[in-house]
Amino acid sequence: MSRTREKRHCVTAIIMPDALILGIETSCDETGAAVVRSGQQILSNVVASQIATHQPYGGVVPELASREHLRAIVPVVRQALAEAGQTYASVDAIAVTQGPGLAGALLVGISFAKALAFALEKPLIAVNHLEGHIHAVLLEQRLSENAGVHFPVLALVVSGGHTHLYLAQVRENLWSYRNIGHTRDDAAGEAFDKVAKLLGLGYPGGPIIDGLALDGDPHAVKFQIAQMKHPDRRDYKPGDHRQLQEDDGPHFDFSYSGIKTAVLRYVETQNMKAAIEARRQALAGIEKPTLADTRGLCDRQTLNLVASFQRSMVNDLVVKTLAAAREYDVRTLFVSGGVAANRELRATFEREAAMQGLPVFFPSRALSTDNAAMIAAAAFPKFLRGEFVAMDFCAEAGMALR
Ligand code: KG4
Ligand code: ZN
Repeated sequence: MSRTREKRHCVTAIIMPDALILGIETSCDETGAAVVRSGQQILSNVVASQIATHQPYGGVVPELASREHLRAIVPVVRQALAEAGQTYASVDAIAVTQGPGLAGALLVGISFAKALAFALEKPLIAVNHLEGHIHAVLLEQRLSENAGVHFPVLALVVSGGHTHLYLAQVRENLWSYRNIGHTRDDAAGEAFDKVAKLLGLGYPGGPIIDGLALDGDPHAVKFQIAQMKHPDRRDYKPGDHRQLQEDDGPHFDFSYSGIKTAVLRYVETQNMKAAIEARRQALAGIEKPTLADTRGLCDRQTLNLVASFQRSMVNDLVVKTLAAAREYDVRTLFVSGGVAANRELRATFEREAAMQGLPVFFPSRALSTDNAAMIAAAAFPKFLRGEFVAMDFCAEAGMALR
């Protein structure tokens, strides 16, 4: 296939299905670059994690994130091209996360992608990070031609910044999304991170709690998670996907700030604070604490608390998502985003969705968390449609998915 600019612009999508897209992701605390062929074959996927930088603070520090992205972006992109056996000249397009995310962090990826696209005269594609998470599912299932995926799809995007439910449709490579639920306060991943922090377990909390929960009793502590009222039903009829506006129909909202407070209250009433402080100090003295290090510093009561917290979170996510799936009569379920790496969440979704006769797909655990392969994959349908952005497009920290 010719790589000349003239050729690229006159060949249509139908006779040019093969495209190498360089994806760049810098929305939060991972610098990612990947080369993906035609939305389905990962040639490389490099992720430089900033965990060590943010660990001492127990959460992402935006200024540090931008600085780390600046340091990492050039070597990460070079490595992605080298591992893919490609060059700057041989890729067909450059895709970059436009939002949502940290403004300064997004700007690093966007500025770099713009400079590359300008210098190389390649088309530039802007991708919504949440759409990337949804396309991670398709990418890995080798389902980019949608064999096996029946629409409408319900996608739960559950990460450090989002707990969102979207109805997804596709027509002639044009994907559209309608939000039918979101968190009213903390995202699920944020709750995992905050609970881990308040228990002195380290950062990021999700993978640590996932590992520790295996050794605890999930029935030991009872937590109530807030149930949201869904007032707006208007003229909605179940199964009617055609003329609905964003606000029509029932919403399935989440709320996770209460459970974090409940964990804090439990810690106070059970006098766990001194043990937590001792654990925090012990972990601070270990350069790169492993799960085994953390496990060794946890008593039974802590393990039980962690397992009970995780069980409540998982149950709430699964029950609300499956209720939404029934209400909107969807035919396939996607679960993606960092929290989709959680083993109990995956197992529970698989079991409960099967009882409802609903196929459920996840990305692999590695592709559940932030990466650039999902950005390159989500860009492919846009590439086919010629949906390129001008050089003056901006980062959108609060970008909505539609
Ligand atoms: O998608 P992601 O990498 O970044 C955002 O877009 O936010 O998600 C990161 C979030 C963090 O809150 C992290 O604690 C959580 O995903 N996470 C997990 C697991 N692995 C990552 N939560 C629960 N269980 C896990 N195994
Ligand atoms: Zn993410």
